[in-house]
Amino acid sequence: MLSNKGFDLWADDYDESVDISDEENSYPFAGYKIILNEIYNRILDAHHKNALDIGFGTGTLISKLYEHGCEIYGQDFSEKMFEIAQEKMPDAKLFIGDISNGLVEPLLENKYDAIIATYSLHHLTDDKKVTFLKDLLNQLNEGGVIYIGDVAFETRLDHDKCRNEVGEAWDEDEFYFVAAEMKKYFPEMKFEKFSDCAGLITLKK
Ligand SMILES: C[S@@+](CC[C@H](N)C(=O)[O-])C[C@H]1O[C@@H](n2cnc3c(N)ncnc32)[C@H](O)[C@@H]1O
Repeated sequence: MLSNKGFDLWADDYDESVDISDEENSYPFAGYKIILNEIYNRILDAHHKNALDIGFGTGTLISKLYEHGCEIYGQDFSEKMFEIAQEKMPDAKLFIGDISNGLVEPLLENKYDAIIATYSLHHLTDDKKVTFLKDLLNQLNEGGVIYIGDVAFETRLDHDKCRNEVGEAWDEDEFYFVAAEMKKYFPEMKFEKFSDCAGLITLKK
């Protein structure tokens, strides 16, 4: 699993490597742009005033929302990703912190219309995901939505089928969402498939 320093090293090439995988329609980023675009459109359509991005990376999605006047908050543990994103969004309230320990204190002081996590929560085990998502639900404003775009599957069968097809390239250190299993903890969770390896998960208060 990549540490924060690993992500620092990846930061400058991150956008390019994601683009290549997405354009080749290959694991792990097949469907990346469609999913980010979908989240972007839903947030604009819902007239959400603010958004919190968990593991914002280079700020690909939130920088577009920022340009539309959405108030942006975020947490990431890579200093290099933080620098790149903060430069794109000087007024965004971005913080460095490991999500394994939950949200940093200043982010707990607010409530959010949208909480976004794209390709970041698979770094948490399923147990940690459940705890963290429950905490995030408490940070939503009335009518707020959590949008999770990630390598994700409806069932364990779909997950295992993809792992077999991907073979050695499959990252055994990452823990991908299996919606049917998460629904035990979040019955309202909705899963929409966007590629053979990715989906959009939405969760409301
Ligand atoms: C694959 S990138 C995704 C970036 C962006 N959300 C996107 O969709 O392009 C994963 C991001 O999550 C951050 N991240 C991974 N594990 C984390 C952790 N435990 N705490 C905070 N951030 C983490 C990384 O630093 C990186 O910026």
